[in-house]
Amino acid sequence: MGFPTVRPRRLRSSQRLRDMVAETDLGPERLIAPIFVQEDAREPVPVDAMPGVHRWPLGAVHEEAKRILEEGVDKFLVFGIPARKDELGSEAYNPQGVVQRAVRELRRELGDRATIMTDVCMCQYTTHGHCGIVARGPGSWYVDNDATLPYMGKIAVSHAEAGADVVAPSSMMDGVVGQIRRSLDEAGFTNVLIMAYSVKYASSFYGPFREAAESAPAFGDRRTYQMDPRNAAEALKEAELDVEEGADILMVKPALPYLDVIRIVKDAFPHYPLAAYSVSGEYSMLRAAGERGWLDEDRALLEVLYSIRRAGADAIITYYAPRAARLLREGRNAFRGPRSHRGGQAPPPGGSQQPREGGREAEPVPRGGGQGRQARHPGGRAGGLGHGLRAPHPGARG
Ligand code: PBG
Repeated sequence: MGFPTVRPRRLRSSQRLRDMVAETDLGPERLIAPIFVQEDAREPVPVDAMPGVHRWPLGAVHEEAKRILEEGVDKFLVFGIPARKDELGSEAYNPQGVVQRAVRELRRELGDRATIMTDVCMCQYTTHGHCGIVARGPGSWYVDNDATLPYMGKIAVSHAEAGADVVAPSSMMDGVVGQIRRSLDEAGFTNVLIMAYSVKYASSFYGPFREAAESAPAFGDRRTYQMDPRNAAEALKEAELDVEEGADILMVKPALPYLDVIRIVKDAFPHYPLAAYSVSGEYSMLRAAGERGWLDEDRALLEVLYSIRRAGADAIITYYAPRAARLLREGRNAFRGPRSHRGGQAPPPGGSQQPREGGREAEPVPRGGGQGRQARHPGGRAGGLGHGLRAPHPGARG
């Protein structure tokens, strides 16, 4: 059976029908907001390459978190920028370090209204900017995997002691998830979750983040530990190892250039929640186009988030989290109608009215009855076309 009996457009003829048959749902509960905290900042420091994103001083982080919370996002991923760096990144596991203090501040100010996640890595904390311990031989250097692992365990435990609910190891060291699970369990933190950056690519899309976090490597790059962008099947090996080592949540990062990878990881591990990190470069390129008026940023950012969700992500880490949550909550979501009144939330502005995208949207859905075929076609009334054109007969060939 095909055209003209089958007409896909019928299901797209009103917002109500489009919402009813939409295959992908997205709400603020799926979003995680990254927050940068800078130890020696006195006031919020704007990040040039990420307009709208700041590095927050200790003492003010909770205000930013509360602002985000008010938009409906209640999960945070905390990144620290320490005042001191050294070869071993020792500030990363200092109980009085920037992340540890930020987590205590958030916990004190927000109680259990938010889920606090922390990035477990060394690159912001080391003078060389690599994600682990660098060993140097004559004329060469390498990131020493096994020497790095105990540090990762220590960092994670120090975050848990400060009150983190979830630790997220991003170093791409082999065995890091197992090491962290053992360290957490030995310290009594059996209930702290691990969200593993299982599939993290050596990506140019981290560029703006490296400005934000001052974490660019001083020499070399990260291609000996992060994944090669040409590979997809290898993602399954990485995810499988993290599952075996005790990861609670898997992650693919970046998101938009790796939607295929999100899909295959979700299909291979449907019984594991999957997060996707829509990274700094993804944010900055949309912001830049939006600022120039080259595209409608609100629509574009939601389209991207839906695409990541459609690919298979359960949760999305995005710098757009508060803005996206506001769009979703206000019923200004370009793709779906206003959310129904639920959970004690205020009804969307405009009550139960349908949003209208152009006049024809308001055409009533046909109810059947004694009308002719032509009148039943939602766009088929002559007046509905408004160009002085005769309404085509539904069965007519153009
Ligand atoms: C640290 C880390 C990075 C990001 C998150 N954790 C940078 C990197 O690996 O170079 C990137 C996040 C972003 O770009 O938004 N290892």
